[in-house]
Amino acid sequence: MSFTTGNKYKITLFGTSHGDCIGCTIEGIPEGLEIDFEKIDTEMKRRKPQGTLTTKRKETDNYDIISGVLDEICDGSPLTCVIPNTDAIFSDYNKDIPRPGHADYAANIKYNGYNDYRGGGFFSGRMTAPLVFAGAVAKQILEKKGIYVYSHILSVKDSKEASFSDLDCNTIINRLREIKTYPFPCLEKEKEFINIIKENSPDSVGGVCEIMVLGVPVGVGEPFFDSIESTLSKLFFSVPGIKGVEFGDGFKITELTGSVANDCPHYIKDEITFLSNHSGGINGGLANGMPIICRVAVRPTPSVSIEQETVDLEKGENTKITVHGRHDRAIILRIAPVMEAVTAMGILDLL
Ligand SMILES: Cc1cc2nc3c(=O)[nH]c(=O)nc-3n(C[C@H](O)[C@H](O)[C@H](O)COP(=O)(O)O)c2cc1C
Repeated sequence: MSFTTGNKYKITLFGTSHGDCIGCTIEGIPEGLEIDFEKIDTEMKRRKPQGTLTTKRKETDNYDIISGVLDEICDGSPLTCVIPNTDAIFSDYNKDIPRPGHADYAANIKYNGYNDYRGGGFFSGRMTAPLVFAGAVAKQILEKKGIYVYSHILSVKDSKEASFSDLDCNTIINRLREIKTYPFPCLEKEKEFINIIKENSPDSVGGVCEIMVLGVPVGVGEPFFDSIESTLSKLFFSVPGIKGVEFGDGFKITELTGSVANDCPHYIKDEITFLSNHSGGINGGLANGMPIICRVAVRPTPSVSIEQETVDLEKGENTKITVHGRHDRAIILRIAPVMEAVTAMGILDLL
């Protein structure tokens, strides 16, 4: 059972959605780092449920740091952050009736029924709160090196806004900083996206979140197993609800010819840049100095209050389930700070 990721910036998660607490232990924070707790709080707040379209669970996400920090300065030892669960309702879950779209059935078989099934246990989206904490620390270390991570909701269901690839990122930087403070981080289509989510209720919808990293030095990444793509993909797919990942043009690159797909290096004065960015800032697994651009496909929230087929494991028969409880109507609305966090963790680990 692996709850640990990373080589130099190593994160271990613990806890379950409906247990006493969740949290993380981070190894690899440079001693002497003065943590900016305001910035951590901003990131935690971005992930928290906000507005009427996200879950009504009160995920306050207040945290305690129980080791690794002395007088707000990191002491070089593992930092452990504990986030209490304060609003768990246990009656919403039944161990013997797996919810469609969730890990319930597979986990029941794998752990012989001993896993904490309440609220999805350690498969829950709630586990992303400590990830956001760990990512917020990583972001602070990266920003000192001039590396910044941005994201936005690129699409909801079949409605799409402009991609980072279509925009001049330098001119939209201020806007990107600004949308980090929005409950719904989109560049232009917030109202349309919200309407789509409402129109589809009580069913749920999915979407695509786009992430961009600026300032990664040329050559960062390793060939093969620790390439930027493999490192980030592993982290992306570790987030509950992520069903697809692409870098640069992704699957669309197959529609281009080689000469069009190639990003050609070019001198502007003494600096080398590329004339296009079909590869999303990565060649051979290494950063080439262009913005790193990637996208993740976020599934529609599995818990919907619509009757669906399932099984009763105790009785050994088919049955039906309508999932009640307090659920996000679209996970895509909450995913941006999570994706930024795991991206920051991955890039920092490779530096
Ligand atoms: C931030 C966040 C919030 C989530 N909220 C919910 C939710 O309220 N209801 C739900 O059914 N799934 C929610 N999920 C998704 C499930 O945890 C996830 O789909 C499920 O564990 C199965 O994992 P899989 O989709 O990766 O296969 C959320 C995921 C994230 C990242």
